[in-house]
Amino acid sequence: MRLRHILVPEDLSTGEIEAIFAVSEDLRAKYEAGIREPLLPGRVLALVFEKPSLRTRVSFETAMAHLGGSSIFLGEDCGFASSRESIEDFGRVLSQYVDGIVCRTKSHDTIGEMAAVSTVPVINGLSDSSHPCQALADLYTLKRHVGRLAGLTFSFVGDGNNVARSLAVACGLLGMRFVLAAPDGYRFDEAFLSHFAAILPGAEIVETGDPREAVKDAAVVYTDVWASMGQEKERAKRAEALRPFQVNERLMREAPDAVFMHCLPARRGEEVTDGVIDGPQSLVIEEAANRMHVQKGLLAWLLSQTK
Ligand code: CP
Ligand code: NVA
Repeated sequence: MRLRHILVPEDLSTGEIEAIFAVSEDLRAKYEAGIREPLLPGRVLALVFEKPSLRTRVSFETAMAHLGGSSIFLGEDCGFASSRESIEDFGRVLSQYVDGIVCRTKSHDTIGEMAAVSTVPVINGLSDSSHPCQALADLYTLKRHVGRLAGLTFSFVGDGNNVARSLAVACGLLGMRFVLAAPDGYRFDEAFLSHFAAILPGAEIVETGDPREAVKDAAVVYTDVWASMGQEKERAKRAEALRPFQVNERLMREAPDAVFMHCLPARRGEEVTDGVIDGPQSLVIEEAANRMHVQKGLLAWLLSQTK
């Protein structure tokens, strides 16, 4: 079987995402019934992380344990993307020991360099430009909640960041309309928009500076931090620009039928208020839980193809 890397959502077809959701749903139902199906016995997943993580790290590690495999976490002391050795040597050696690699990197190019030399699948566990596993879990969560995805409007209010980009593409792949409400300078760049139009001709993506307009008819109102990891120095400037885009009770009243989602971690009181994140429309805990179920689906689907 051909070696596959999942670096961006468009590395998967619509049919493949649906197949992964079906495996995830089956494994989630079994897990809730107390069954942990060992679909990947003896398989080993390496997690190479250049940035902090709770959800991605733990959900991948528990996913592998539940599937009968194991995982190895490699943090800063492993010498990845440092002067210790080249990424090429690191990737060529690591992929001799393990069956898959999840990479969380500062630069998306680093994941590309790893994938170029790896002999096992590489999965993006977040880069500065993309977070495909988050987008998969989010749309799985929405599908479970609403019962369908095609035709729904997904409204992202806030910074047009890595999470927003992956969600926009995943929504396009699954027949949804994507709306981004952000101030000037925080919307998608031209390179992303022309790539989006090229890979998803006919998919609807709308950008607006008006958050109230953006959430009209939304099935989901989504936000993420205003300063992502690596942008800490810009926090004050970003907060000033993005403050009118806070998801608060007043904004959610414009979308009474929508659910609220956030990838977490959240900066409560900045991009979202306590009242919304802890409120009746919020799905954030179920969304985080689904990271594990969907990554199990992804791992079972991906790793069972390669050996
Ligand atoms: N949502 C998410 O990826 O969380 P972590 O940064 O904790 O992994
Ligand atoms: N946009 C955030 C997502 C964290 C899961 C970041 O990159 O820090």
